[in-house]
Amino acid sequence: MRKPLIVGNWKMYQTTAQAVALVERLRALLAEIAGVDVVVCPPFTAIQVVAETLQGSRIVLGAQNMHWEGEGAYTGEVSPVMLTDLGCHYVILGHSERRQYFGETDLNINRKVRAALRHHLAPILCVGETFAEREEGRTFPVVEGQLRGGLSDIPPQAGEGTVVAYEPVWAIGTGHTATPEQAATVHAFIRKQLGELWGEAAGLAVRILYGGSVKPDNIDALMAEPDIDGVLVGGASLKPDAFARIVHFEKVHR
Ligand code: 13P
Repeated sequence: MRKPLIVGNWKMYQTTAQAVALVERLRALLAEIAGVDVVVCPPFTAIQVVAETLQGSRIVLGAQNMHWEGEGAYTGEVSPVMLTDLGCHYVILGHSERRQYFGETDLNINRKVRAALRHHLAPILCVGETFAEREEGRTFPVVEGQLRGGLSDIPPQAGEGTVVAYEPVWAIGTGHTATPEQAATVHAFIRKQLGELWGEAAGLAVRILYGGSVKPDNIDALMAEPDIDGVLVGGASLKPDAFARIVHFEKVHR
């Protein structure tokens, strides 16, 4: 059984003081969580204070990006060793904003995914089509290309620790969530691809998240879909009450 996973991607928001206030509130709201993994991914500058504030809590830390080398002359970059040093367990890789604004390619994203696995960080590989690609009927080939590119040269046993996030670009920050059926169709396609890549058992072990305008009012319908194992939340993860409601999606209480 795949354990549900709810991830907050804070993007480029929150000073250290704001971050501490946010996780203090979250900690209180999520004191009772069970049966679900909860991860927050602050900007690099706030990871340390968030780690300190979360000590003894069940909420886990992640980062939003990293370099693939352990160290080196790469001005402005942050390495997997630095992230594990701060207590990170997850890292978001290949987010569409990084592909779109920072020129990230499948090749470099693949280097990062492999580096994350080597350093015992669970990679959250983001894939998803633009509105134009969906309109042209190219959703599946685009997602397949990003998936196979990002996961190339990874053996099935390493793959099991990987998380895939389906984030249709047209649903990010727009308020236009994919319908549960639209998301479920692509999740099933991703699951099939993972099975072809790594074998059925390994494919079935991978958690596939949905991301794009996830809110308290659509979380329950999304999580009711069998192939949606959790969500990657942007805007609503900065609002403690909304994020806590998302974590408390109805399946947990069944
Ligand atoms: P929103 O939830 O703000 O649409 O962002 C989604 C996202 O990009 C999460 O990584």
